[in-house]
Amino acid sequence: MSEPQATRPIALIILAAGQGTRMNSDLPKPLHKLGGMPLIAHALFAGATLEPSRIVVITGHGADAVEKAVEDLMPFATCARQEPQLGTGHAVLQAADALADFEGDAIVLYADTPFVRPETLAAMQAARAAHDIVVLGFRAADPGRYGRLILDGDRLERIVEAKDATPAELAVDTCNSGLLAADAQTLLRLLSRVTNDNAAGEYYLTDLPALARAEGLSATAILCPEAETLGINSRPELAAAETTFQTNKRLEMLDNGVAMQAPDTVFFALDTWVGRDAEIEPNVVFGPGVTVESGAQIRAFSHLEGCHVSAGAVIGPYARLRPGAEIGNDARIGNFVEVKEAQIGDGAKVNHLTYIGDATVGERSNIGAGTVTCNYDGVMKHRTIIGRDAFIGSDTMLVAPVTLGDRAMTASGSVITEDVPPGALALGRAKQVNKPGLAVKLMDRLRAIKAARKG
Ligand code: UD1
Ligand code: CA
Repeated sequence: MSEPQATRPIALIILAAGQGTRMNSDLPKPLHKLGGMPLIAHALFAGATLEPSRIVVITGHGADAVEKAVEDLMPFATCARQEPQLGTGHAVLQAADALADFEGDAIVLYADTPFVRPETLAAMQAARAAHDIVVLGFRAADPGRYGRLILDGDRLERIVEAKDATPAELAVDTCNSGLLAADAQTLLRLLSRVTNDNAAGEYYLTDLPALARAEGLSATAILCPEAETLGINSRPELAAAETTFQTNKRLEMLDNGVAMQAPDTVFFALDTWVGRDAEIEPNVVFGPGVTVESGAQIRAFSHLEGCHVSAGAVIGPYARLRPGAEIGNDARIGNFVEVKEAQIGDGAKVNHLTYIGDATVGERSNIGAGTVTCNYDGVMKHRTIIGRDAFIGSDTMLVAPVTLGDRAMTASGSVITEDVPPGALALGRAKQVNKPGLAVKLMDRLRAIKAARKG
């Protein structure tokens, strides 16, 4: 029996090498999106709640792309390739180099099993105090192709794959989720003895409990609801999983004190964070990377991704916040306004029909309707800096790079190509000339021409 695991370091081993043939896709299965983020992010984030000191992702099919995604999501994770893919036991063994000097517990997760809850992983970890091997199982409504857990009381004798099972074993409805926990070195040592002498000709991870017991080690299973162990194998399953994900996330948001009149029309991402008493009106879509502070209001038909909305701010209706948008306290972003890579200061107002990109807008500044930061010259992006309490007249084109000082003003319709000093009014438009009577004269002449053509 190993020492109590409460203090033991944890290594996650995430299996992501399989082909995922039934997705019928060129995209590797771990990269298909659920809740706006790759499937593998769900396993990584759930596993990360155990505060693992190492994470090893086993890659194979589409390894380059999967490894890049892992690097972006969790830079401290390492990847180990499994070439060719000879089964789940063989997959776990590929972590041997990365864990050669690791002392602690390994927890095996699947990249295509996104719903396992942190509480369940913690229960597996806790069950290690009394058993050498802990397998996560569930009662299956339709056991089908799942491996069956052959239990004697709380002792797990072995796991038998459906393909290799006798009719009596197939009648067992306690199934293997595939997730398990064990001392890392014990796991690797036992797996090095697994053979592929079975119906699939694969090296099964599921041989582990029987091998452990043959050595006098103990194995057990803890059970979780079947919904948690749901695996994604096809596009219909992925679509159904999206519905489940959104249902769960909406409930979690409501329980956390977020106000929603029509939660069924609001779509969240895996990492969306919304504070208490924030309000989300109908038909709002959150891409990845959004945080909304308490008391902010996201009005109908807005789309947000990679942005932060501070307390008291009002976004939309019909607003688009793109990556890098940071909206200050009590700021207003109105209808048909797009903000990208820009800081909007506290109390600033950008109320109508505007594009603010690569910019800083100072506190309390007002940006008139139709303003555009002309940030792109066709090759490079440039910044626009606007000070505090500035007033940008409607339909101003701010040709970046350009800086406007505190309390600067621009006249409506200006094209601003040069910096505007603090407190200055910039007029960047042609001077208006009125020609008395000319409009009437012109109109009469045009009517006469039209009448002559008809006749
Ligand atoms: C596995 C279990 C089965 C369990 C089921 C739960 C085995 C032998 N069987 O079966 O008992 O009920 O999961 O869903 O473990 N993978 C690799 N390399 C490989 C093979 C698989 O990385 O060589 C990865 C896959 O990408 C996937 C996971 O391991 O993430 C599971 O593989 P899969 O082939 O789907 O296992 P099942 O046959 O469903
Ligand atoms: Ca599977």
